[in-house]
Amino acid sequence: MDFDDVRKNVAECMSFMLPDNTTKVGRAMRYAALDGGKMWRPLTLIATAQTYGVHIKNSVPYAAALELGHAASLILDDLPCMDNEDVRRGKPSCWKEFGQNTAILAHDALVFTAEKTVATGPISPYINCQVLMALNSGALETVCGQEADIALKSDSGVEEIAVMHRRKTGSLYAAATLAGGILGGRSVNTLHSLSNSGLEIGALYQLKDDIYDVEGDPSNGGKPIAQDIGKANFARRVGIDRARRMFAKRLPEVLEQVRQLPSEPLEKLVTEMFK
Ligand code: IPE
Ligand code: IPE
Ligand code: MG
Ligand code: MG
Ligand code: MG
Repeated sequence: MDFDDVRKNVAECMSFMLPDNTTKVGRAMRYAALDGGKMWRPLTLIATAQTYGVHIKNSVPYAAALELGHAASLILDDLPCMDNEDVRRGKPSCWKEFGQNTAILAHDALVFTAEKTVATGPISPYINCQVLMALNSGALETVCGQEADIALKSDSGVEEIAVMHRRKTGSLYAAATLAGGILGGRSVNTLHSLSNSGLEIGALYQLKDDIYDVEGDPSNGGKPIAQDIGKANFARRVGIDRARRMFAKRLPEVLEQVRQLPSEPLEKLVTEMFK
């Protein structure tokens, strides 16, 4: 699988499902959802489905829906009442560009568009319903994780922060692997293993993001660093050296877990994601 080709296909599908530029909210939705996202979550869904022989063109719409939901979550994450971020993906965040009222409307409309995208998915009405449930439960967990993030403090327990990471970020990756398995017609046992692997991938992704906030390169990362000072950032809580060591220990463990599934496409993707 050529990751950039797949990213292009996902972006085309998102663009097709999104409203045009004639309204301000439509422009805000396109602004927040298209251009600049690394698209690891849709790629995770597609790589998982590909493991079980699902043709990429059949998994793209479900992956596009997941990315629409993710883009919506970032709109809220950046609001002044949340992380108060001015920059996202190397440009002004959605609320900074369009105002908070339009940004909130764009969030809602992106979620509705994501649901519509799954409901009109190409495989079957039954599968569409199953995938919708998988993505919805992941998104619901993300909301709870975001609430936990707000409630936690910079000196909160290390374990509490780790749990919050799983909820706010692990859950959408778990939804991606779970949805990929559903598309591939897997049994409950396999779906369970897939969901666990996704959760671990996502938790590691958030650890990397927390490390980025301490020592990342903003000219590459598309967002400023040092935004999490005073917040429940894992790397700030345990210290950067320990966070780096944890990451170095966890990466091979997560890769081994993916190898045991087994899923070669996912193994390649996870390797690329954490390069
Ligand atoms: C940002 O996600 C939120 C986190 C969970 C760290 P990404 O790093 O995937 O952001 P984009 O979509 O590539 O901009
Ligand atoms: C956001 O985590 C996770 C979401 C569920 C949106 P962060 O707040 O650390 O993400 P960034 O650093 O703003 O991308
Ligand atoms: Mg946040
Ligand atoms: Mg944030
Ligand atoms: Mg962050």
